[in-house]
Amino acid sequence: MKKIRWGLLSTARINRAVMPPIRGSERSELHAVASRDIVKAKEYAKEWHIPHACGTYEELLAREDIDAIYNPLPNHLHAEWSIRAAEAGKHVLCEKPLALSVAEVDQMRAAAKKHNVVITEAFMYKHHPQTLKVLELIAQEAIGELLLIKGAFTFYLDRPDDVRWVPEWGGGSIWDVGCYPISFARLVANAEPVEVFGWQATGSTGIDVVFSGQLRFAGGLLAQFDCGFRAPYRTALEIVGTTGSIELASPFKPEGGEWIKIKRGDRAELIESPRGSLYQGEIEDMERAILDGQAPRISLENSRANVGTIVALLESARSGQAVRLAQT
Ligand SMILES: NC(=O)c1ccc[n+]([C@@H]2O[C@H](COP(=O)([O-])OP(=O)(O)OC[C@H]3O[C@@H](n4cnc5c(N)ncnc54)[C@H](OP(=O)(O)O)[C@@H]3O)[C@@H](O)[C@H]2O)c1
Repeated sequence: MKKIRWGLLSTARINRAVMPPIRGSERSELHAVASRDIVKAKEYAKEWHIPHACGTYEELLAREDIDAIYNPLPNHLHAEWSIRAAEAGKHVLCEKPLALSVAEVDQMRAAAKKHNVVITEAFMYKHHPQTLKVLELIAQEAIGELLLIKGAFTFYLDRPDDVRWVPEWGGGSIWDVGCYPISFARLVANAEPVEVFGWQATGSTGIDVVFSGQLRFAGGLLAQFDCGFRAPYRTALEIVGTTGSIELASPFKPEGGEWIKIKRGDRAELIESPRGSLYQGEIEDMERAILDGQAPRISLENSRANVGTIVALLESARSGQAVRLAQT
């Protein structure tokens, strides 16, 4: 195989972000789209110049001319359809959050292994050069020993019929946007939290519309985050060390050219974030994994730990108790 022939599993809004890097790559080709409604699939394929349209997701998975699936379904369908794709022999780039329980991630991992395919989570910011630059600064001990990581991601969810309102579909702000500061904290810590505590305010459908959480890592490193659907768009990340701090203007959706602020003592230095197209990295990562046999940057073990942390935070918010995480 020299080129990956991609199929889009649904007509989700987020497809618009991944279509350009698939099209822009010499090693990928946008081949088909599926929708639960054939009319919708055909219209979508025409609008976005996609060669083939399928009227069911099963039909897309059954096609022999498809190598990889992009799974941007509502959160509760991530595990089921990624597993069905793996069973059909397709590689899968699955949207965040990868699943809604560690048991689901384990089933996905078993399916990937059994059918010898790649399944990885589409956490685009982890591939961006800005994120890699931050990790480099931390490794160079630019701010000394790490003490605290603070992050936030909120936006105003004004679409009343959005899937994010439905509790049993993995709705709620922590699954949707809290997963970003949580994953960034784990990435920077290069470790998993041993204990978490969360508070939430719930909306009319029962999902968390404001969430505030704390993570404690072994060795004393702490992290705090908030997320929500009721405040305007707002993202933040601050990493505090013994000799300084790093702040990012756009931690989760960088395009490059934004500032990275490095404070040491009284001095603050602004450096420019390296440029890079936000969604290109996850497509290139899949190409390296499928065509060159490299391990994907985001392992299923890593996604499993993010899912486990979110589940524990939700459990804490419900019980009012801190939750200790088993290190498996
Ligand atoms: N990485 C990022 O930057 C990013 C950004 C936004 C969203 N996301 C993730 O991408 C996923 C999709 O988000 P989105 O905002 O693009 O969603 P969306 O526009 O609501 O699309 C979801 C699609 O799923 C299909 N679907 C299947 N069963 C459904 C059901 N029971 N109810 C509603 N839709 C159903 C629909 O396609 P058909 O009608 O064509 O079958 C629908 O278009 C989520 O997991 C989200 O976390 C990631």
